[in-house]
Amino acid sequence: MLVSAKEMLNKAREGKYAVGHFNTNNLEWTKAILVTAQECNSPVIIGVSEGAGKYMAGYTTVVAMVKAMINELNITVPVALHLDHGSYEGAKQVIEAGFSSVMFDGSHYGIEENIEKTKEIVALANAKGLSVEAEVGSIGGEEDGVVGAGEVADANECKMISNLGVDILAAGIGNIHGKYPENWQGLNFEALSAIKDAVGDMPLVLHGGTGIPEDMIKKAISLGVAKINVNTECQLTFAEATRKYIEAGKDLQGKGFDPRKLLGPGFEAIKATVKEKMELFGSVNKA
Ligand code: 13P
Repeated sequence: MLVSAKEMLNKAREGKYAVGHFNTNNLEWTKAILVTAQECNSPVIIGVSEGAGKYMAGYTTVVAMVKAMINELNITVPVALHLDHGSYEGAKQVIEAGFSSVMFDGSHYGIEENIEKTKEIVALANAKGLSVEAEVGSIGGEEDGVVGAGEVADANECKMISNLGVDILAAGIGNIHGKYPENWQGLNFEALSAIKDAVGDMPLVLHGGTGIPEDMIKKAISLGVAKINVNTECQLTFAEATRKYIEAGKDLQGKGFDPRKLLGPGFEAIKATVKEKMELFGSVNKA
């Protein structure tokens, strides 16, 4: 069964740990994330970008696959299926398709339009029991075609958006998707404290979880971050493991590679990355 992310994230914020949001792209990544969450006895959020949703044939296919896997793999830890950086249209589609959580990213609109559209998504999502993540101050870098300038969110705007009935808030604090540049200034904890003061108990989201030093991750959790998104690190370890396997050339004389064996090392690599993050975020044994 899929659950909304609301309860698991409120528990995480109270318990001062964070639940990992891991983006998926296919069956292997999904299975690796689910199996690891169960092994770690950790709640988990499976993130799906709009591009990944299209790649996997559409949102209803994703819902069917994740639900069936939870059932067939006997996954008993809480799992939320969440749209990552949803557009207004995409958010409406996943609410219909059976996701249990949705991010509406209105950060590229002016604040008035972000408020209007977020309100509409909250009403639609609430009617079906989904949790809603909103965004203020765009996250830097590029994520599946969505490009953000890397702003620091305004605490007043965060307050306005958090008052709309959203459950989770992503606020830019100098974090960016993908690898951090050499000259990165680090997370802006002053901004994070101001946002936390403005929004009170709302669980906050740290996007761009790849490459943030451990001490910054821990400090962010102590300041109200309860959900941390990771994608690039899985992508890097998956690609590296697959590349090594191909280079080692264990093919089936004249029949190419066994597709299941070809993706096996990548599957194990994602499992290892997810486990490492769950340990760092403190969500192990919190299911
Ligand atoms: P990274 O790709 O930097 O890990 O960020 C993932 C993310 O924030 C997804 O929304």
